Amino acid sequence: MKKLYKRISIMMLAVFVFTFLAAGCSGEEEVHNKKTLRVGVVKYIEQDDYINALTDCLRGDFEKMEKSYGLHIVVTVKNGAGKQAIQDKVVEEMIDAGCDILCVDLVDRTAPTKIINMARKNNIPVIFFNRELVREDLMQWEKLYYVGGDAAASGIMQGELAAGDIQSDAKADRNRDGRIQYVVLEGETGHQDAILRTDEAVGTLTAKGVKLDKIRYEIADWSKDQARNKMSQLIRQHHAQIELVLANNDAMALGAREAYEQSGLEKKDYPKIYGIDGLKDGLKAVASGELQGTVYNDKEGQAQQMALLSMALYRNETLKNFSFHDRKYLLLPYQKVDGEEAVKRVHLKNFSK
Ligand code: BGC
Repeated sequence: MKKLYKRISIMMLAVFVFTFLAAGCSGEEEVHNKKTLRVGVVKYIEQDDYINALTDCLRGDFEKMEKSYGLHIVVTVKNGAGKQAIQDKVVEEMIDAGCDILCVDLVDRTAPTKIINMARKNNIPVIFFNRELVREDLMQWEKLYYVGGDAAASGIMQGELAAGDIQSDAKADRNRDGRIQYVVLEGETGHQDAILRTDEAVGTLTAKGVKLDKIRYEIADWSKDQARNKMSQLIRQHHAQIELVLANNDAMALGAREAYEQSGLEKKDYPKIYGIDGLKDGLKAVASGELQGTVYNDKEGQAQQMALLSMALYRNETLKNFSFHDRKYLLLPYQKVDGEEAVKRVHLKNFSK
């Protein structure tokens, strides 16, 4: 009798251990009869509005795919807390937990080697997104891909929006010196979007014949708070002198606008301010005229390509329907959003409140 009990408890323990291991990425239970696709998404930090919005789209796409493909899909989202070593560890844990596909927004886009080596050893494809790794790294193994936007194009569009407004508005050059005194609020150092957006926006304005005087380039790490603080400082130093603010994203553009609202300057002394991303708050601000323009960073398109590519890789399908650039890159176009376009989009998405 005692022996029988012992056997039963060993069997129960075995069942428990098996269930626990099978829980994989998320700790959720395997659904009967259905195959499970486990996707590990690793962001660079916990809180980034754009990345979080993109991740929400990705979850939504996988949810829809569950039905159409008759699969159980488990999406686990974690982050690297802003440190590459932490992100490497998180990826390792996801691999140990049995992920089939990894989607990684690198903390340091120049340091993907550990992740690539781990993934390769375990034969797990990696779709890097948002932070573009150097070509040599992406070419290290056939199952590595990159999905993002065409960073240079977003800078060109921002420059075109600003040039168009400046050239059609005599009051843009408030001190009438024939030049535009400007500030750039930049994202994180070394991020391809920060580098290219700044260069291309400024280059486009110049190419279009707008004469520019640089007041300052300030790094504000994509953050509204940092941008507000840095802009307030600049307003204290330069008062109503700044005529144009080019921000590498909407969060920083909105921070700049807040700095002006808190400055005590009259509205007629505010500069023209441009962002990039076109998230809800940015679109609303452009629609109401608080910002003069933004450039839509297609989170829906990027998420959809990531979801489709994950599925194709998981099912070992041919990738001939993807429009790869250089065999590995899926780059989604941006779209210019001026006041009129923003009003349409706000109305369409019904987030006017
Ligand atoms: C977005 C920023 C975001 C950054 C994160 C950029 O493409 O425009 O809003 O903070 O990616 O890496």
